[in-house]
Amino acid sequence: MNSRLSSRVININDLRRIAHRRLPPVVFDYLDGGADGEVTLRENCRVFEDVRFRPRQAVSIAECSLQTRVLNFNLSFPAILAPVGYSRMMHPGGEVAASAAAGSAGIAYILSTISGHKLEDVRAASTGPVWYQLYLVGGRAVAEAALERARRCGFSALVVTIDTPVAGMRERDLRNGMKQLLGGSLFAKLPYLHYFLTHPRWLAAFLVDGGMPALENVVVPGSGPMPLLDVGSALARAVVTWEDLRWLREIWPGPIIVKGVLTGDDARRAVDEGAAAIVVSNHGGRQLDSVSSSLRALPEVVAAVNNQVEVLMDGGVRRGGDIVKALCLGAGAVLIGRAYAYGLSAAGQAGVAPPSER
Ligand SMILES: Cc1cc2nc3c(=O)[nH]c(=O)nc-3n(C[C@H](O)[C@H](O)[C@H](O)COP(=O)(O)O)c2cc1C
Repeated sequence: MNSRLSSRVININDLRRIAHRRLPPVVFDYLDGGADGEVTLRENCRVFEDVRFRPRQAVSIAECSLQTRVLNFNLSFPAILAPVGYSRMMHPGGEVAASAAAGSAGIAYILSTISGHKLEDVRAASTGPVWYQLYLVGGRAVAEAALERARRCGFSALVVTIDTPVAGMRERDLRNGMKQLLGGSLFAKLPYLHYFLTHPRWLAAFLVDGGMPALENVVVPGSGPMPLLDVGSALARAVVTWEDLRWLREIWPGPIIVKGVLTGDDARRAVDEGAAAIVVSNHGGRQLDSVSSSLRALPEVVAAVNNQVEVLMDGGVRRGGDIVKALCLGAGAVLIGRAYAYGLSAAGQAGVAPPSER
């Protein structure tokens, strides 16, 4: 299986193609798609093509190290796996498999609040740094309980996502009946059930894994882990504000990373509110469409922050060369989202791991 995968996969687009074949359309489009006309989604990738290298030649570099440090954590190369919700729908290994692959590659993994695996299991799977990404689904008391668990089992940084005041208008999800499939009656689901029947391998793995996972880290007092069905409406009420950041600084002892900044003004505000790092991000083009690509927004944020905190970026990174371009424009490291999620969907942990480990 592993050597077969290696021979078929040269780049991330190859993993995307395998994921497309393996996943039912409703799951693939959830992963692959963006908001509205997907202008920002396309632009995130395309803009890397506009950046040209200006190499200096005739120098000999005997040993080339890609190692770096982000927030005092050593990374074997300047990339971090971004929080990707519903990963367990893409492959039963889900967040545990992704975290294990990140650890064996020597990089950090960020666990989304929207996780089907318990945060303790995700932490235990990796030998590297694991950070927790927070949405305020379920309210502050639910978040406090999750953060206490995260702190106790060794999550070493908190990532607060600020670009989801409302759910992005994902047209592919509407077309594929995501709402009906997650919460509708059997009758409402009927027009969409063929997606699963035509993907029997995915369906079998999903059923053996226990079907629709609950949110193991969003534990509502008195009723247990939040069912996936309630997440949409809970997210719609989960806006994070700068006041929440002040409260989070009181209850979270480690560094806080603010994710979803696109302007110098918001970057300065995040610094004033005590952020240790900022992620320049438009949520992979999944939230407000027609905002700037992350790479274009990066220099403004880097200038505004003026070396006071670390600046990371995500959005559109599909190649090593893209990482170099982001670093040249001022990022300390990049987060990657879809690039590894395609691999997870295609082949679980082996699809996320670097080719040398397959
Ligand atoms: C399927 C999917 C689910 C995501 N879920 C979350 C999430 O739960 N929390 C979050 O902060 N960002 C989430 N993101 C955004 C990513 O963390 C990241 O910002 C984005 O994927 C970067 O763009 P890229 O996919 O082009 O690398 C998600 C992205 C995708 C593709």
